[in-house]
Amino acid sequence: MWRELQGERLDGEVLEIGGGSGAMAAELLRKCPDVRLTLTDYDEVMVGTARTRLGEFGERVSVRQADATRLPFADASFDTVVSFIMLHHVIDGEAAVAEAGRVLRPGGRLIGYDLLASRPMQLLTKPRARGNA
Ligand SMILES: C[S@@+](CC[C@H](N)C(=O)[O-])C[C@H]1O[C@@H](n2cnc3c(N)ncnc32)[C@H](O)[C@@H]1O
Repeated sequence: MWRELQGERLDGEVLEIGGGSGAMAAELLRKCPDVRLTLTDYDEVMVGTARTRLGEFGERVSVRQADATRLPFADASFDTVVSFIMLHHVIDGEAAVAEAGRVLRPGGRLIGYDLLASRPMQLLTKPRARGNA
């Protein structure tokens, strides 16, 4: 988990976008006892699975369905947004990154990793970068 968090120790209000089944969230909550985590995912089935998995964390966690490109949260609501291997699923990944920025407090951080620099993803995103798509 420390590698996924790039060595950062988290506390405060954390939002995970595209949190899937909640596996990473469970690990994060165990490693960072001062975190209160909101997990979101587009897929209702994933949301249900995550809710069950994270039940043991009680008030420290809330789980809800949300599209990463249209987050149902006020501006500056979170200290940190985390995103683990989900942005490549989002058609408008730039909108998701912008939304993460909107809900972060000043000085907040977006932490995560993805496959965006891989050769297949470069081929997929290149035409948009040239303005041809
Ligand atoms: C490969 S899974 C990663 C799940 C989790 N982050 C992990 O590392 O285990 C990608 C997740 O992104 C979610 N997803 C895809 N598009 C999304 C969107 N626009 N908004 C929110 N979640 C999305 C999928 O439903 C899926 O659960």
